[in-house]
Amino acid sequence: MDRPNSIIEIIIKRSSRRNYRTEQLNRNILKQISNLLTSPPAGPFGGKSTFQLLHKSIAIDQKIKLGTYGFISGAQYFIVGKTVSSPEAFVDFGYRLEWIILQLTALGLGSCWLGGSFKRSEFAKLLDLKESEIIPAVTPVGYATDKRSVRDKLIRLGAGSKNRKFWSELFFDNNFEHPLTSNDIGEFATVLEMVRLAPSASNKQPWRIVKIGSIYHFFLQRTPGYGKIFPEIDLQKVDLGIAMCHFEMTAKEMDLRGHWKYLDPNISLPENSEYIHSWV
Ligand SMILES: Cc1cc2nc3c(=O)[nH]c(=O)nc-3n(C[C@H](O)[C@H](O)[C@H](O)COP(=O)(O)O)c2cc1C
Repeated sequence: MDRPNSIIEIIIKRSSRRNYRTEQLNRNILKQISNLLTSPPAGPFGGKSTFQLLHKSIAIDQKIKLGTYGFISGAQYFIVGKTVSSPEAFVDFGYRLEWIILQLTALGLGSCWLGGSFKRSEFAKLLDLKESEIIPAVTPVGYATDKRSVRDKLIRLGAGSKNRKFWSELFFDNNFEHPLTSNDIGEFATVLEMVRLAPSASNKQPWRIVKIGSIYHFFLQRTPGYGKIFPEIDLQKVDLGIAMCHFEMTAKEMDLRGHWKYLDPNISLPENSEYIHSWV
């Protein structure tokens, strides 16, 4: 499964890679990456964040260090995205950068969402940021080393990266009181399983889905205190966009038709939760 080609294989194959081979990427692959950066579909709310490929040397020429506080080693290239700052824009940003990351995975390239462990102000110097714009996250891109470093293993252990919450904590039937089981929903069981495998900041998995009739309503259940770490960047909204990307791409591949619509079912919510969007 070196070059996965179904979206399900790609989602299963993707994991955060923090150690890279230092070689340069060839022209052909650089062109493919550049094409990808202008190709993600508009987000569920129509937002159009923009993405750029940066090479370390460009930064060094300008005396800028694309630092990651030692979280990433060997990477020569980073993809940096910018967007205006709004609640919907964070969701759209997550959706669009995850779309790019899944295509990179299909090309055999490694990546790692970085929402915290990068020097945001240094990266910002290389982008033409308007006052209203921000960089929610970046990712290194390149060929990952075969083995993970001890540091990567420790980071993964700390975040519990291999684990995902149980279905009963994530997916619900009609309201938040009744868990949804995979037997209840036919082919959509695979779609939800692909949501469950999505990456999220600190692996908090804040996405919740409630199925009412044939509609899948997406909610965000915030991790208490998490927003205080980077108050200007709503990383958990970014997580929701990532989950929505997995949902839509898998549904489309399986020929399960639908589209996004704002259709708040106004059900009673657990603490720290909010409605985001629905798949109808
Ligand atoms: C929005 C977002 C921000 C993240 N920020 C960081 C980060 O700053 N540093 C880091 O090492 N990993 C970061 N991660 C990676 C997560 O820790 C990782 O996705 C999670 O532990 C699950 O592991 P996996 O991606 O290997 O499946 C981030 C992931 C997401 C989705």
